Amino acid sequence: MIIAQVSDTHLTLDAPDSQQRIRDFEATIADINALGEAPDAIVHTGDIVHNGRAEEYAVAAAILAKARAPVFVLAGNKDNRANLRAAFAGSGTISTDSAFIDYSVERFEVRLIAVDTLNTRSNKGDFCEERAHRLVRMIDAETSKPIAVFAHHPPFAVTVGPDPINFETPEMMQRLARAVQHSGRVAAVISGHVHRGTMGQVGAIPATVMPATATPLRKGEYPAHLRARPVYHLHRLDRHGGFTTASRIVGTPPHAGAGGR
Ligand SMILES: [Fe+2]
Repeated sequence: MIIAQVSDTHLTLDAPDSQQRIRDFEATIADINALGEAPDAIVHTGDIVHNGRAEEYAVAAAILAKARAPVFVLAGNKDNRANLRAAFAGSGTISTDSAFIDYSVERFEVRLIAVDTLNTRSNKGDFCEERAHRLVRMIDAETSKPIAVFAHHPPFAVTVGPDPINFETPEMMQRLARAVQHSGRVAAVISGHVHRGTMGQVGAIPATVMPATATPLRKGEYPAHLRARPVYHLHRLDRHGGFTTASRIVGTPPHAGAGGR
């Protein structure tokens, strides 16, 4: 299966670069819609909006409503759980038995599990015992398929950023890392938050981080002609646990998709 990832759109209505962030988000969804090989799903790995406001979610939801593939959303540190939930309640995928925005998607050959690392005290991630229990329960609910775990904050040391640990404490990060490793069935851990594309490992599990979709907030060196062009990740997973990731620059012809040459 192919998953197109969007992350860190930080949509806002009152910043000097608000319009650029909206254009970046819209252009990325349009590019995903035009891929030669259509993705099975789009996952937004959080920081959908910048201030957690309902009016920001209304704009984000309208952009995501144009996506042809089913969309799954995560909460990042800039998100507001109640307003995110209200904006995407119609999707029917976000579990309602908890305040946390965590859930599993069972309809594909690879299970998708969304984790909630939102911390209401800090921009750094949180992962408490309750969330760990919920994640282990979701992982153990089905034992025949590989799993892709999505978490806004990467649960491994990201040494290219200003601070390698993106959780409030190393213990919180280790709790999440332990939970994803416990079954041996998690094939990939997919994150955002750092605003810079990179990769690493959670134990033996490959882990990726995609750049911010919002180009004014993207980190890393890009040549001038690419500075206003969003870059996103296309993940290919198979039922044997195979996992590859391709970066795609929005607007690059010929929309060949993850398997294109
Ligand atoms: Fe973030």
